[in-house]
Amino acid sequence: VTNVVPPTPTVETKEPVQTSTRTVTILFGSETGNSQALAEQLSTQLKEINRDVTVSCMDDFKPKKLKEVEDLLIITATHGEGDPPDNAIEFHEFLHGRKAPKLDNVNFSVLSLGDESYEFFCQTGKDFDKRLEELGATRIHPRVDCDVDYEELAEEWAKEVIATLQKDAGATNAPTTTVTPTEQTFSKSNPYTAEVLENIVLSGKGSNKETRHIEISLEGSNFQYEPGDCLAINPKNDPALVAAIIEELKWNPEQTIPINKQGEIRSVQEALTSIFEITRLTKGSLEKASTYFQNEKLQQLVQNSDEVKAYIDGRDLLDLIIDYPPEQLDPTTIMHFMRKIPARQYSISSSYQANPDEVHLTVATVKYQAHGRDRSGVCSGEISDRIKPGDQLNVYVHKNPNFKFPMDEATPVIMIGPGTGVAPFRGYIEEREELELKGKTWLFFGDQHFRTDFLYQVDWQRWIQQGYLTKMDVAFSRDTDEKVYVQHRMQEKAKELFEWLEAGAHLYVCGDEKRMAKDVHDTLISIISQEGNLSEEEAKEYINQLKHEKRYQRDVY
Ligand code: 2AM
Repeated sequence: VTNVVPPTPTVETKEPVQTSTRTVTILFGSETGNSQALAEQLSTQLKEINRDVTVSCMDDFKPKKLKEVEDLLIITATHGEGDPPDNAIEFHEFLHGRKAPKLDNVNFSVLSLGDESYEFFCQTGKDFDKRLEELGATRIHPRVDCDVDYEELAEEWAKEVIATLQKDAGATNAPTTTVTPTEQTFSKSNPYTAEVLENIVLSGKGSNKETRHIEISLEGSNFQYEPGDCLAINPKNDPALVAAIIEELKWNPEQTIPINKQGEIRSVQEALTSIFEITRLTKGSLEKASTYFQNEKLQQLVQNSDEVKAYIDGRDLLDLIIDYPPEQLDPTTIMHFMRKIPARQYSISSSYQANPDEVHLTVATVKYQAHGRDRSGVCSGEISDRIKPGDQLNVYVHKNPNFKFPMDEATPVIMIGPGTGVAPFRGYIEEREELELKGKTWLFFGDQHFRTDFLYQVDWQRWIQQGYLTKMDVAFSRDTDEKVYVQHRMQEKAKELFEWLEAGAHLYVCGDEKRMAKDVHDTLISIISQEGNLSEEEAKEYINQLKHEKRYQRDVY
């Protein structure tokens, strides 16, 4: 879970500072590009004060070179249940294995990005921080763990690390590094207000799910995007929920309150609508709230982390203030215990080349019942219940450097995207059509029912006819007694799939991470081992090689 790529800051050093001859190695582990953007930004800052810097993703870094490393800065995201991002898995494994070298001469610091609503918050950063110390390296600046609104903390960490590196270099003057972000037109903090052009339900009558296709105008935004990129939306909370909270707390919706350390202010109404996350509780937010609520029961609850975990599951701020009424809660304190509402990212399902002034998204509506109340996903609920053509959404494009497609006719491309995971593949094939690129492309799509859930069926049929899509295999899981999933179709076509890989195919997976992407990965291992006559270990090595060559890329969530 991530948000904006921050602007590249420039660094001005006011005094000439004696510069260290030690080289700085910046290694990042990045899933959707945030850590990478921060790493590149830090590298630019260091180069501007004449430091010798190398920056690379962890898995492109040769472990043998670790012995030569002097100053090591790690910036890493964490994925799913505390796992390293795809491009950090091997390095993480190597460093934690028996072959890891002693690192007595290494100075290091770690910046970790994460999402506090996950149990294993910032786990990968924590792993590296601990392990580097165990290997004898010296921590020159404490690790910083960032929640989804990471920009401020990340900038502070970078500033302090640069200062420390300079101090260690024996600089005569304290470095006077000022970081001034260069202007970037639209971003998370300065989103583009875009008009919604279309909002239609894709799924047919009788479907168990509601999947929507929305089209948004980008006219005048100067946004450009490539297949695989995302559109981030700054959503608005449900006005009914906002009103219920305000009423329960007897707040004045017009009162202005601070929303950040810089002292920006908003009305209570606006803050609860667009700034703070009110639909979810985290362990951290509960702990902090307990100091402001002065509710004894809540103070007891936060002592027991198992009970906290059970309580926050499926509950929101309204539950909290009803179950643990605050003695008296001043709305000016909310910035101290509530986190900012993260932007929601959707894989773009259109081609910029084909529609330069538009962006299309494929959005599954999230609605469910929990603890006696109807609930909905913040952004998908807003799109489903409140956004009509002509309405506006605050958006920005989020580039995803780890989900990029070949744009030639020679490279075969295999795409696996059940459900809304099919979105980026629609954008990609539409782009190939626009550029008149034929060549071998193969899509695996799956969903519950052929009749109601075959997303973009007419598009695929047209592209097959025109030759932009060469093969398509579908798995409708609930049309037959036995479930069939995309990976079953892959297994049925094992021989051909392996031939495509041997011929240099790139393979993409988009969609559900926990079940689908994991099962697809395991199926790939078995296909490669079966068809290539390889042991399981060798098949895994084959897949790692694909990853290194950027021929196996995933956008899973
Ligand atoms: P199901 O809901 O019938 O189990 C898109 O959501 C499609 O992905 C649905 O057909 C869904 O099937 C299917 N799906 C569920 N679990 C999956 C898994 N582990 N691997 C692949 N597809 C899965």
